[in-house]
Amino acid sequence: MTNKATSALLALLVVCSSAALLMSAPKPLASGPEYAGDELKLPENYRQWVYLTTGFDMSYSADAMQMDHHMFDNVFVNPESYKAFLETGTWPDKTTLVLEVRKAEGKGSINQRGNFQGTDVIGLEVHVKDEVRFPGKWAFFPFDGAKTAKMIPTNMECYTCHAEHGAVDNTFVQFYPTLLPIAKSKGTLSAGYKKETAAAQSPKPRTRTTP
Ligand code: HEC
Repeated sequence: MTNKATSALLALLVVCSSAALLMSAPKPLASGPEYAGDELKLPENYRQWVYLTTGFDMSYSADAMQMDHHMFDNVFVNPESYKAFLETGTWPDKTTLVLEVRKAEGKGSINQRGNFQGTDVIGLEVHVKDEVRFPGKWAFFPFDGAKTAKMIPTNMECYTCHAEHGAVDNTFVQFYPTLLPIAKSKGTLSAGYKKETAAAQSPKPRTRTTP
């Protein structure tokens, strides 16, 4: 065989064997949840995932305590699940969402007004869909600086608020601007969310007060 033919054959072999490897290996989710025993491992590269939103000073009750500082929360999701959402309007198994909390800074560099995000992460919570592992399909994990976290017990209010008010499958898609239109068009909004928005939009019956 000529040198040329040998190298062509070699190249072909390399291509075929890598293709065979790709086909035979079970397709791993590049960004799915990983566990250490019964704890979830921190998805360390979540900052390279898909960005969903930033909430500013969000509060879930009208009479919540006034804070002495402002806060941002940033939400990220693993890229495979984002892609699946665009196609289906809902989350596949192994979806992992990260809520990262940062303190809002006011004065700094050239900034005179408004707020920007501080460099310290002051809170990090992860929401994982793992249908076989968790009876309720989803579980929350609070990370407080450690590399692994224990699941929050299912009787905590995290679960009820997310289940009752999340627009799609226990998640707050109503606040994720690139996803809400998809969920609307695919018809995947939860019954609870649809009821809430309908109630908010219908005019309230007027109560007349007689002077
Ligand atoms: C009263 C309602 C409420 C409760 C209770 C609540 N959350 Fe949430 N959660 C929200 C809202 C609203 C958002 C959307 C935040 C945004 O848009 O920035 C959210 C977003 C999240 C996200 C981002 C992914 C997602 O699921 O949409 C995580 C993670 C999360 N919360 C964790 C928790 C944990 C952990 C607890 C309990 C310690 C908790 N939440 C309790 C309302 C709630």
